[in-house]
Amino acid sequence: MDKFIIKGGRRLEGEVTISGAKNAAVAILPAVILSDEPCIVENVPSISDVNISLRILSEMGAEVTNIGKDAYRIDPTKINKCCVPYETARKMRASYYFLGALLGKFNKARVSMPGGCPLGDRPIDQHLKAFSALGAEYTLSQGMIDLKAEKLRGSQIFFDVVTVGATMNAMLAAVKAEGLTIIENAAKEPHIVDLANFLNSMGANIMGAGTDVIKVRGVEHLHGTTYAVIPDQIEAGTFMIAAAATKGDVLIKNIIPKHLESITKKLEKIGVNIEQYDDSMRVWVDGPLVKANVKTTPHPGFPTDMQPQIATLLTLASGTSIVTEGVWEQRFRYVDELRRMGADITVNGKVALIEGTGKLMGAPVKACDLRAGAALIIAGLAASGITEIEDIFHIERGYDCMEGKLRQLGADIEKVNVPDKPKENDSDNKTAV
Ligand code: EPZ
Repeated sequence: MDKFIIKGGRRLEGEVTISGAKNAAVAILPAVILSDEPCIVENVPSISDVNISLRILSEMGAEVTNIGKDAYRIDPTKINKCCVPYETARKMRASYYFLGALLGKFNKARVSMPGGCPLGDRPIDQHLKAFSALGAEYTLSQGMIDLKAEKLRGSQIFFDVVTVGATMNAMLAAVKAEGLTIIENAAKEPHIVDLANFLNSMGANIMGAGTDVIKVRGVEHLHGTTYAVIPDQIEAGTFMIAAAATKGDVLIKNIIPKHLESITKKLEKIGVNIEQYDDSMRVWVDGPLVKANVKTTPHPGFPTDMQPQIATLLTLASGTSIVTEGVWEQRFRYVDELRRMGADITVNGKVALIEGTGKLMGAPVKACDLRAGAALIIAGLAASGITEIEDIFHIERGYDCMEGKLRQLGADIEKVNVPDKPKENDSDNKTAV
């Protein structure tokens, strides 16, 4: 088992370069299946969720070649299987994108239900609703989802909730369906737009991505393309908060400032200085941090994937802050760990009351999911003394060389390997977020 050991109290200073977006890459890689020619995907982050997506593609028969730093050539023309088995699907939530991509290309798909997850109930009813609207039939049996369609036909899909995954899956399945598909109440996250741009670069006809109505006019063939994944909005936001929590001064490079607007505005309210440039921003703190209220909502609101990180920052600010989670039922599981570090947080349902104490103390803690892990790293960097973080496989799912990037900024963080504890770290629990 790997863990991080952080000696806290060092100011982060210098420059950091943000990697490609996890939540875009895990949809774009399966989307390559839809192409009739090889594709080159660049700015692919080096994280375990991407490694799993690439492995699934290879196991299906696609030829996957690493052609340089963060770039892959993927030839989907030799795919001879439409199945993603339990062993791989359970490791990554985003394996559900293989449903939409395989259905869109071959009119059939067989994918294991994605593994259990620590954010509360994560149904896929809206994904299935979209596939049905396009003419597919589904069966759920023995933990597998089977989809098949005689022919996919454009249709009107109205989502009952705003969902990133189902919006992406609807686009993947509709892109080659006959006629026009209208997706209403669509999610608007930057990775939705990125997937649409990627598909359009292969010859798809998708309009309106980034608004709540997306129109997809089906095309017969999709051709090869070379495409670079957008920078990771959440990784950038995490480094912004790490800089702020250590009262540091960091230039964050390779970002799209527009994607970070809700985070930037909230941090400025808390007392963080931010100067934006075309594709970078400087983040520094030279005064007191003050309380703020935060409510997470789908894009363009404050992202749920930044909630644990900003809550951690608010423990270091003066005054009482209220953080309300508006997307996931169980996104406060990290709070117990922060309390071990001296945080004063009370959770009542979807609301957390944070009494800013201005300080945290190092302690042994455990990451319970990806962003919870990021929050514990921030806490450890700001705390006095030593913080040891276990279960960092969660963090490595979504952050490209987090400890290396932090070390470059002056953090005292190292990854050490300790022998596994018997049974407790059962790999069946390593399900994705
Ligand atoms: C994506 O998850 C992200 N994962 C999550 O990132 C992120 O937290 C989430 O979007 C919200 O932004 C990936 O992109 C791989 P949803 P997803 O479908 O698509 C309900 C991270 O830390 N819902 O937008 O699974 C659902 O229960 C992670 O990087 C249904 O009711 O999320 C939730 O309350 C974790 N039925 C809400 O919608 C459905 O069929 C939003 O979920 C689907 C979703």
